[in-house]
Amino acid sequence: MKTRPKVIDVVGARPQFIKVAAVSRAMTSDLDYVLLNTDQHYDERMSRVFFSELKIRKPAYSLGVGSGSHAQQTAKMMMALEEVFVKEKPQLVQVYGDTNSTIAAALVAAKLRIPVSHVEAGLRSFNRAMPEEINRIATDHISDLLFVPTRLAEKQLKKEGVSPGQVYWVGDVMLDVVKSWKEQASVGRAPVAGSYVLATIHRAENTDDIERLKGILEGLGRLKLQVVLPIHPRLEKMIGQFGVGVSANFKIVQPLSHFEMMSAIFHSKCVVTDSGGLQKEAFYMDRFCVTVRDETEWKELVAAGVNEIVGTSPHRIQGAVERALKRGPSKKRKALLKEYGDGVAASRIVKVIKKFLA
Ligand code: UD1
Repeated sequence: MKTRPKVIDVVGARPQFIKVAAVSRAMTSDLDYVLLNTDQHYDERMSRVFFSELKIRKPAYSLGVGSGSHAQQTAKMMMALEEVFVKEKPQLVQVYGDTNSTIAAALVAAKLRIPVSHVEAGLRSFNRAMPEEINRIATDHISDLLFVPTRLAEKQLKKEGVSPGQVYWVGDVMLDVVKSWKEQASVGRAPVAGSYVLATIHRAENTDDIERLKGILEGLGRLKLQVVLPIHPRLEKMIGQFGVGVSANFKIVQPLSHFEMMSAIFHSKCVVTDSGGLQKEAFYMDRFCVTVRDETEWKELVAAGVNEIVGTSPHRIQGAVERALKRGPSKKRKALLKEYGDGVAASRIVKVIKKFLA
């Protein structure tokens, strides 16, 4: 009997658990599929809750790497990943997005001459101060299969000299997950009674810079509405370290599970965030997004008029939220959902992988 080609899917951080939920579901039994978790995120509400809620299979490997400086975290992952890849001898290693787990696995695989597949390739913020930007650029340039979520990402890779034969537009796997939530789960309760803006802040460029953090908190504090803020552990740590306070309109809650987040977006008036994933989830759930960064990788959202980039000035944040509350629906919604893959990105990925490994 012909042996089945082996694919190792590597995840480690919260957004990757969401993405792999769609992709692992689309994998078929003619592939020998191995799921590996680096455990970059390890708290119950940053990790396990996503596995149980999204019914993701138990990883065959859990590396227990945890937190550390960039070098420590990435190096620990690389050492542990090398052992697994040498033992398992996969025909393909697949990585997701732009975290330290992504670059660690891509580097180890590439040096072992194992082909690498990158889901969510080609995104650029053009801001090299973001660790994620370094991770994405490096991962893209050592990958063999590059799955892009947008046409803009496809163009970008072409500009950077990546061979077009390696690049596949598939759409956004996160839309697959939102679509299946809409079909299968019922909308849960709102996290608070009354109208609110849903906010998340977790990027190091915001949490670790006191001026930027203060600007965001002040902008949100000026709003007349309540601000529901699910708190990422890094934000909690930095608020404590800087000793900055929040206004009385804040309702700080623990990090939300995927279903809780979907329900929280659904019941919100609009979303304020520095997350990449939440910018799209807001759009998929038809909520306007105010992005507290200086740029975004998801430029189509801005062009479609469903996302405004405001940086961290309190005045701009307040103005953008007030405008968002008065906005009507975007006329470009349908076209953009199509561009993001219509919720079937994962099956496109599996199809390409099978052809590649045949
Ligand atoms: C990482 C990714 C980022 C992604 C984000 C999603 C990198 C460079 N960044 O950022 O692209 O958007 O995940 O959330 O990989 N911590 C806990 N418990 C946990 C996990 C983290 O307490 O389960 C705390 C630790 O203090 C840790 C800090 O959060 O030092 C940051 O965690 P880390 O894994 O370094 O990166 P994120 O900020 O979560």
